Amino acid sequence: MAEERVPTFIKGFDEHLEGGILPGCVVLIMGEPGTMKSSLAYSILHHNAKQGKNGLFVSLEQGRKSVITQMASLGMVYDEVDANLSVLDLAILRKKMKLGKKSWMEVFKMYAVNLKKSMNYDLLVIDSLTVLELLSAFREPRIELFEFFEWLRDMNVTTIMPTEMTAKGDVLTPYGEDYLADGIIHLKMERVGDVNIQRRIRMVKLRATKHTPNFFSLLQQDGFFAVTKVISEE
Ligand SMILES: Nc1ncnc2c1ncn2[C@@H]1O[C@H](COP(=O)(O)OP(=O)(O)OP(=O)(O)O)[C@@H](O)[C@H]1O
Ligand SMILES: [Mg+2]
Repeated sequence: MAEERVPTFIKGFDEHLEGGILPGCVVLIMGEPGTMKSSLAYSILHHNAKQGKNGLFVSLEQGRKSVITQMASLGMVYDEVDANLSVLDLAILRKKMKLGKKSWMEVFKMYAVNLKKSMNYDLLVIDSLTVLELLSAFREPRIELFEFFEWLRDMNVTTIMPTEMTAKGDVLTPYGEDYLADGIIHLKMERVGDVNIQRRIRMVKLRATKHTPNFFSLLQQDGFFAVTKVISEE
């Protein structure tokens, strides 16, 4: 029997992805600052939590309160899903626990494993891979990242990691993460005419999935992201 896919709950998008992401995949959400990487990652967890799938959102750059407030302003109220979704502020936890000598990666893994036992989450967001890499100060980044991606797959969770890009489209994580990942969602802002900027989304790659690589317009409304065909290219 075919494995049940994890829907992104981006309206109009899942039907272009055979229904969603295969469980166990590691998917990057790449984009420039402000392209709504964190919001999109959260929304995937939020709407899956509503369907009873447990999620863990680990924030490395934004405080827990700030994440929850931002998502509420986008129509995703945390209280509605708090039974199935945990938001962790790793920076605060690390400070509180006085784990001075433990590396960021060790602290992250410790929490990820403990929470897997206690709440058995199916979906994991690490926001962001860029910051985790910076803080981890790998000695051999390529090897350590390869092992990290394998570790994530062995955890039996579907992982989504926002990853920064520069305005030129260069990936800020230069260790071949895009090759290691099973899937890549690219977000960008496109100038349309003289004044307008439209948000765009495309699935660059997704393992074992027949999908279109084309860009769609990305909208956010009433707690949901949605895509439409790009109409105007003037
Ligand atoms: N209530 C809202 N309604 C519409 N758009 C919003 C709302 N709140 C935030 N935004 C847009 O979302 C952007 C921030 O989203 P988000 O934090 O998810 O982006 P990001 O790509 O993760 O950013 P960063 O690169 O800083 O991590 C804001 O810059 C703004 O353009
Ligand atoms: Mg972000």
